[in-house]
Amino acid sequence: MLSLETLLRHRTSGPRYTSYPPVPRWDPGGPNDALRSLVLGVSGPVALYVHVPFCRRQCAYCGCNMVVSRRREAGDRYLDALQVQLDTLGPLQVAWLHLGGGTPTWLDPAQLDRLFAMIKGRIPGAETSVEVDPEGVDTARLDALARGGVDRISVGVQSLDPGVIEAVDRAQSPRSVARVIEGARARGMEQVNVDLMYGLPRQTTETLIHTLDQVLVLRPDRLAVFGYAHVPWMKAHQQRLAELPDTRQRADMALAAHGRLLRAGYVSIGLDHYALPDDALARAQRGGRLDRSFMGYTPHARLPVVGIGPSAISAVSGAFVQQTTHLGRWWRAVHAGIDPVARSFTSTALDRARGEIIRRVLCDLRLDLDEARADGLDVDALCPGAWQRLEALQADGVVQLTPTRLQVTDDGRLLVRNVAMAFDPLVEGSGYSSTV
Ligand SMILES: C[S@@+](CC[C@H](N)C(=O)[O-])C[C@H]1O[C@@H](n2cnc3c(N)ncnc32)[C@H](O)[C@@H]1O
Ligand code: SF4
Repeated sequence: MLSLETLLRHRTSGPRYTSYPPVPRWDPGGPNDALRSLVLGVSGPVALYVHVPFCRRQCAYCGCNMVVSRRREAGDRYLDALQVQLDTLGPLQVAWLHLGGGTPTWLDPAQLDRLFAMIKGRIPGAETSVEVDPEGVDTARLDALARGGVDRISVGVQSLDPGVIEAVDRAQSPRSVARVIEGARARGMEQVNVDLMYGLPRQTTETLIHTLDQVLVLRPDRLAVFGYAHVPWMKAHQQRLAELPDTRQRADMALAAHGRLLRAGYVSIGLDHYALPDDALARAQRGGRLDRSFMGYTPHARLPVVGIGPSAISAVSGAFVQQTTHLGRWWRAVHAGIDPVARSFTSTALDRARGEIIRRVLCDLRLDLDEARADGLDVDALCPGAWQRLEALQADGVVQLTPTRLQVTDDGRLLVRNVAMAFDPLVEGSGYSSTV
């Protein structure tokens, strides 16, 4: 196991590399038809991401793009615009549908039925996953998710400690989490992910481990343990958070959660993610097929991503478009026949090559310079100085290096983001969240 001092020594801030280059390096704006042009370039299956921006309240730590609303009509108006956006994009061959947010289960059962009908009417059979906030999910919503053919639910738990939950303005109970997971499984939605967080106000290593133990009883297939990203310069509401654990406490939580999950039989996939050994993510990693996109780690290698809804990101062959995060502006643009583009970027061949190297590090946890060269990637030329930058990580047991091979060690997976950053000559450490 890495020591606390090692984690602290390498603590820095950096991108999560769900794209390369990372979103902050994209260009503002883009052409009025940027999304349609991007999607025109797609042939074959895609991953479709639908961003449902609504929540009933705002959790104080939240880093997602969301709006607070209790008005059902807002959901209807959003779905009207989503329908227009889908029609504009034309037929899509969707292999994987993911509903994220915000809180997709903010929609009521009839609205969920409408959403699934509008997408799945065209694409029966796509693997379907949905993010679920356990508090708002009643049996009627669970039934609607099952009717919609959902295979995987991703349950936002964060913490089950009453003190933490109170400090972050969230409503949550162990009972509601168990009810949702058991209810989903009873309806045939058998794959379960759980999101937890460390570094939250009033959180301690003991309460984090207690939450983990409560969750492990339910044996989710995957767990994500995210370090709280404190970015008040982007998310002003985070300024109200007080009593945050210090850096040393955060690192201790990350280490303790990692050890607890390994002892419980989970595989560490890399950046924040753990899976049971027979889960598709762990199998894809063993088979060298794991990929990373805006939807995080995915066993669906190389699928173009089409994102619809405010703030949604699309990525096709190294070209990226992010839609505006502002719900009203998004709605007006869609109805005016304009793609609501907030940022866009077309990668150069150099960006694509560096992106592939970083993908190999984050997904395969290894890099072989000869294999890379055979695939047209000259790592020395593309990422000059990478091996030198890795020396300190090697000295601390995070990576093993030979002149031609890099292997992230089992314990080193906790710092895989640092390893990836060594291959990004353009990374500057500021403006991103903390790596630990
Ligand atoms: C897009 S959110 C949607 C989750 C859902 N609305 C819920 O709250 O259950 C997905 C996950 O992002 C994580 N998250 C949100 N804000 C975060 C932050 N500031 N830092 C790190 N992770 C965060 C949480 O673990 C959350 O479950
Ligand atoms: S964490 Fe989930 S429920 Fe809370 S504000 Fe963010 S998106 Fe909404």
